[in-house]
Amino acid sequence: MASDGIAIGGFMGTGKSTVGRRLADWLQLPFVDTDAVLEERHGPIAAQIAAGEPAFRERERALVAELCDGEARVVATGGGMWADPGSRARLRAAYRTAVLTAPLEVLRARVGAGEGRPLWAQAGRLLADRAAAYADADAIVDASTAPELVAGEVLARLGFRRTVPVALGDRSYRVILDPGGLDGLGEAVAARRAIVVTDSTVAPLWADAAEASLRGAGAEVARIVFPAGEIHKDLATWQRVVDELLELRADRGTPVIALGGGVVGDLAGFAAATVMRGLPLVQVPTTLLAMVDSSVGGKTAVNHRRGKNLVGAFHQPSLVFAPMGTLSTLPDRERRSGLGEVVKTALLGDAELLDRLEADADRLRDGDPGALAPVVARCVAIKAGIVAQDERENGLRAVLNLGHTVGHGLEAALGYEGLLHGEAVALGLVAEARWAVRSGHCADPALPDRLLRLLARLGLPSAPPAFPAGAALEAMRLDKKAAGGNLSMPVPVRAGVAAVVRVQASALPELLAELG
Ligand SMILES: NC(=O)c1ccc[n+]([C@@H]2O[C@H](COP(=O)([O-])OP(=O)(O)OC[C@H]3O[C@@H](n4cnc5c(N)ncnc54)[C@H](O)[C@@H]3O)[C@@H](O)[C@H]2O)c1
Repeated sequence: MASDGIAIGGFMGTGKSTVGRRLADWLQLPFVDTDAVLEERHGPIAAQIAAGEPAFRERERALVAELCDGEARVVATGGGMWADPGSRARLRAAYRTAVLTAPLEVLRARVGAGEGRPLWAQAGRLLADRAAAYADADAIVDASTAPELVAGEVLARLGFRRTVPVALGDRSYRVILDPGGLDGLGEAVAARRAIVVTDSTVAPLWADAAEASLRGAGAEVARIVFPAGEIHKDLATWQRVVDELLELRADRGTPVIALGGGVVGDLAGFAAATVMRGLPLVQVPTTLLAMVDSSVGGKTAVNHRRGKNLVGAFHQPSLVFAPMGTLSTLPDRERRSGLGEVVKTALLGDAELLDRLEADADRLRDGDPGALAPVVARCVAIKAGIVAQDERENGLRAVLNLGHTVGHGLEAALGYEGLLHGEAVALGLVAEARWAVRSGHCADPALPDRLLRLLARLGLPSAPPAFPAGAALEAMRLDKKAAGGNLSMPVPVRAGVAAVVRVQASALPELLAELG
């Protein structure tokens, strides 16, 4: 019976060790590189082969026997190990297996002159001789692309996706966190017709892959593209998308596939909510912010000149498919902005997650998929749990607006230009925590500085650019949470716990002053 580990085979230069390390990170399993073990025990591989290849292969076989002990781990095998029928059969019985492949010219560019690889001189012949062996695995994966995409593809092909349920009675759905790209989308959506709605930045990067997958699963597909950017999340763009949906004769059997960040999710979601009183919606988030927050929970909206998200509807998706491999093209600043919402989620819902963010801050800042994956899964589970208890924000769900009272004020005052959404939220978290300590709502006086340090390590700003305070206050007053001169605002009570409190509108200047 195969364990929950993975053994990777493939030729020299296919990236078995690099990909293997990423897989081990994602799965939180130990990593073993068989060549590294044999070098440690018996000296350089080149010297071992020079001294006699049969003896070296015998050592490889002995090591395989050691590694087939039922323990789960990720094993990157030496190039020739997979060609040995006995070793391969053992590994196939003990592990889920993947072989990485790439055209010889790609391998040549990676391996160069083949220093330290005595068999590289015969690469062409060896590849031909081993062709049958390299076709014998649970998954054969093209390794010509970036290691994180290759690792994602291996995980997806071997069935290592994570699924988080959102329990909402007859509106329940799944959030599928796919470590790869969009290959699995079509099968998950399983529709005969679908309309992909995306923006002008995401379209050239990922729309073809999404559509190929949908078509591969038998769907007829159309595409609607609108210009990227928060300033286009408005009624005029909504109108255009609605017109196109109607021209394409979308009906209740045609899911709208919202492919992109939070702007696409909110706008395409609102179009889906309103056309024909509700088309099915599939959220396919391609930013970190959209994966951890906006794609889950059914809030859809566009901005109005009077404020952000003022025109919208609750419209739950029938599926969220989060292709984590698409984060590979996301600009660094956008990814770090998403970490602002991650910190928010930890602060309001999980003290242990906050500890983990501190421990892994450097890897998260650098976008290491192995560090991101468990964090994204945890954030989705926290949000799903809150939404399941209070779908329409009659109470508890309002805690998800932590950091947003000040954050939205800042964004509006800056005309949605100087700061990204997650950056504004991050600044809002610190200001609101300081205010909560000062006003006696938060019992942990060290919390604001702790947040500030974490956000700085994650690459988020610690102070806003110059902004007109009057405009920020005006936007905060007009915030949809304002009721009868009072504001309902979530504040941190301690790490991992938030509560909604009533705030006098007259306290807003103090709150804003906490931005420092
Ligand atoms: N509905 C909710 O519950 C909810 C929650 C939080 C935020 N939001 C909304 O989400 C929006 C912010 O979302 P966002 O930060 O994802 O912004 P966004 O959608 O504008 O995406 C940021 C930028 O990255 C680009 N992009 C997206 N995916 C990419 C990829 N894989 N590679 C390269 N570029 C890519 C986009 O085209 C855009 O230019 C705001 O409008 C906010 O109000 C909604």
